[in-house]
Amino acid sequence: MKIIENKEELIGAIANLKSNNKSVGLVLTMGALHEGHLSLVHEANKNNDIVIVSIFVNPTQFNDPKDYNRYPRILSDDIEELKKVKCDILFIPSEKEMYPHEDKREFDFGNLDKILEGKYRPGHFKGVALIVSKFFEIIKPDKAYFGEKDFQQVVIIKHLTKLMGSSIEIIACPIIRESDGLAMSSRNMLLSKEERENVSLISQTLLKARKMAKELNVKQVKNWVISKINNNPFLNVEYFEIVDDKSLESIFDWEQQNYKIGFIAVHIGNIRLIDNIRFYS
Ligand code: PAJ
Repeated sequence: MKIIENKEELIGAIANLKSNNKSVGLVLTMGALHEGHLSLVHEANKNNDIVIVSIFVNPTQFNDPKDYNRYPRILSDDIEELKKVKCDILFIPSEKEMYPHEDKREFDFGNLDKILEGKYRPGHFKGVALIVSKFFEIIKPDKAYFGEKDFQQVVIIKHLTKLMGSSIEIIACPIIRESDGLAMSSRNMLLSKEERENVSLISQTLLKARKMAKELNVKQVKNWVISKINNNPFLNVEYFEIVDDKSLESIFDWEQQNYKIGFIAVHIGNIRLIDNIRFYS
C-alpha cells in the first residue's frame, strides 16, 4: 500500500495506473476505520483494478467545533486495518493540501440539503460537497463507494456528480451493524460503556417499527419510535422522519410512495448518532 500526502504525487501515481487502462475505485473516509468502511473497500475491490482510500477529517463539514475536535483520529491503527485488506493507495492529505485557499463554491441541491441532517446540521452538506468534489476532481475515479448509513449523503453526492457533469458512478453500499444492531460509526468509540449499552435501543426500535408499520399509520409509527427512545433516560431523539427515498420528502401515508426510509438522529451525552431503516409496504 502506497501512502501519499500530496495531490501532485497522487495525480502522477494515478496517471501511471490509468495509462495501463486500469479502473479506479474510490472510498472516501474520515478515518477511525471500522467494518462499515472496510465493507466499502471490499466492494471497491470487486469491480476495480485499483482501490484508493482517503482519510481526511474535513473541517468544513462540522457545524459544531467540539464535534470536530473530539472526532477520533487513530491513523496508525487505520493503516494497520487497511494493510489487512487490498488498498493500493492511501491518500492522507493535510488541511492545507485540500484547502490552500478558502473555497467559496456553492452547489444547488434544491431542498435535499435543507431537510433532515441538513436542517439540524446547517452547512454540513455544503462542506461535504466541497471536499467530495475536490477529491473527485483530483482522483477522477471510475466508481466511488458510499455507505447507506449516511443515506442523505449518498443522495446528495449523486446529485453533485450531475452538477459537476461527472461520469463517476456512485455505488451505495448497505449499512454494516454491530451484533446488537447498532450501526457502526467512528463516533461509537466515544461512548462510555453505559452509553454503549443503551444505544442499541435505537436500531432495535427501528426494527420493531418496521414490523408495526403493518398495523399502525405513519404518524402512529413516528410517535411510537420517538417516545420509545425518549423513554430511555440516556437518549434524546432530535428527529425521526419517514421519507421517500428519492426526494427525501416526508410521507404521511404508507401508500404514498413505494420506497420509504425512516431517518433518525439521537443525542446521547455529547455524542450524536444517526441511523436509518427501509420500510416496505
Ligand atoms: P465517514 O463518516 O468516515 O464515512 C466514510 C464512508 O463510510 C461513508 O460513505 C459512510 O457512509 C460509510 N460508512 C460509515 N459507517 C458505515 C456503516 N456502518 N456501514 C456502511 N457504511 C458506512 O461520510 C464521511 O466519512 C464523510 O462525510 C466523507 C464522505 C468522507 C466526506 O468528508
